Amino acid sequence: MTSLDVETATAVPPEEADAPATAGESPAVRSGAESNAPEHTGLWCGFLENCRQLAAEASPLLASGNLTRINGLVMEAAGLKLPLGGTCSLSNGSHSVEAEVVGFSGEKLFLMPAEDVYGLSPGARVSALETPNPPPRIHKARPHRRRAIDRAKLLPVGESLLGRVLDGAGRPLDGMGPLHTETLHPLQSRPINPMLRAPIERWLDVGIRAINALLTVGQGQRMGLFSGSGIGKSVLLGMMARYTKAEIIVVGLIGERGREVKEFIENILGEEGRRRSVVVAAPADVSPLMRLQGAAYATALAEYFRDTGKQVLLIMDSLTRYAMAQREIALAVGEPPVTRGYPPSVFARLPQLVERAGNGPVGGGSITAFYTVLAEGDDQQDPIADSARAILDGHIVLSRALADAGHYPAIDIEQSISRAMVSLVTPEHLEAIRQFKQLYSRYQRSRDLINVGAYVSGSDMLLDRAIKLYPQFETFLQQNLSERADFDSSTGALTGLFGAAP
Ligand SMILES: Nc1ncnc2c1ncn2[C@@H]1O[C@H](COP(=O)(O)OP(=O)(O)OP(=O)(O)O)[C@@H](O)[C@H]1O
Ligand SMILES: [Mg+2]
Repeated sequence: MTSLDVETATAVPPEEADAPATAGESPAVRSGAESNAPEHTGLWCGFLENCRQLAAEASPLLASGNLTRINGLVMEAAGLKLPLGGTCSLSNGSHSVEAEVVGFSGEKLFLMPAEDVYGLSPGARVSALETPNPPPRIHKARPHRRRAIDRAKLLPVGESLLGRVLDGAGRPLDGMGPLHTETLHPLQSRPINPMLRAPIERWLDVGIRAINALLTVGQGQRMGLFSGSGIGKSVLLGMMARYTKAEIIVVGLIGERGREVKEFIENILGEEGRRRSVVVAAPADVSPLMRLQGAAYATALAEYFRDTGKQVLLIMDSLTRYAMAQREIALAVGEPPVTRGYPPSVFARLPQLVERAGNGPVGGGSITAFYTVLAEGDDQQDPIADSARAILDGHIVLSRALADAGHYPAIDIEQSISRAMVSLVTPEHLEAIRQFKQLYSRYQRSRDLINVGAYVSGSDMLLDRAIKLYPQFETFLQQNLSERADFDSSTGALTGLFGAAP
């Protein structure tokens, strides 16, 4: 059966449409509508127009080609034409593998598998996988399908996914049975018109004292969490997931160790965080395509909840592994590496992903996002760290020296910044932050002198004050794993450091 037969057979005519079943909707459809004939005619015309569009879009022939070569990660196919980004299925009798078109050269298509290609043999059949075209329904506008991005893969979304752990293809990983959701959402979305985006104007309580008070994050802000390995990124993200005031949390665990996925969900996220979270896990051992898809799926889930008006916290661990997955694909297809082995497409993909987070149109929900960025060897000049810093609305840097000294969360206040903060907090709060940073950095600069006893008290009034307050600053910045610091108590503690008049 051709796709045309399938699609038209499932079209829903006005009499059977679900919409007229509710009170208050057009009586024309229910009653035969002699009294309201023009409206009835309008509904039918709209419905038939949608059917006409559906028929025009349908491809009557199912094309297929053959697998001609597998070279490392990339496969080559000939005999069919598919668009860039299109999906296809490769089958070898009963064995089938899904793949995406990542490039072409003349008549040859380059395909990247989503799963293990073990068992595929030369000449395996390659056939296009079309995104199902939703049947027209009366009273419902058909989704846009003009652009290629509108035909992206559809994956499950919905409130029933809260508490669940899924892979990059939307399949459950938690052994809690099948998903009970009928809503599907496209993996990719059209960019939001920047003129329609609501500005960042309200703070979000993330439950961490140092962030709430000194690096205030706004609803719809996108932040980076920069650090070397093993300094406490995952633990800090887990604390935010447990203690934040956001309504929904979407966690994308991309390219991390498989062992860490279970550990993050059970120990770090905990029952409290998990109840209002959806976790998408695409660990290091899945294909690079699946890791990219995992990040896109987590973002699509966050977009879906945002579009229903919710305040969403999106946590992506890690953006560097996402970039590395794109690097694997781009190098395999033959793109030249430009900066430290990263091809140019990596730097194009990062903003495309990050720009999907943030605020929606005015009056809607928001996606506040935290992306972890691995600064290898604590190198803040790493090309991914550099690029991420430019496209995000702020960065929180974790310091190995603080972590080594048992100072957790190991946030380096001097190097961290929240770019939206100025418009979010009161002038008194801003002034307290300024004072804190001034005294803190004054102490840090003279630290060695103080430690060897070379500083003579009384020679610098500011430094004297910094030395007096420093133990309190340290206590203020540290926070226990089990401690929640809400926004008001965090700002109260900050202004309290400087007495009644900050
Ligand atoms: N707030 C904290 N309190 C106590 N210990 C902590 C805290 N944060 C981190 N640690 C310690 O640091 C270790 C590493 O933390 P974590 O796994 O979060 O690091 P990471 O930066 O995510 O590492 P990787 O780069 O490998 O993913 C933890 O196992 C824990 O021992
Ligand atoms: Mg980690």
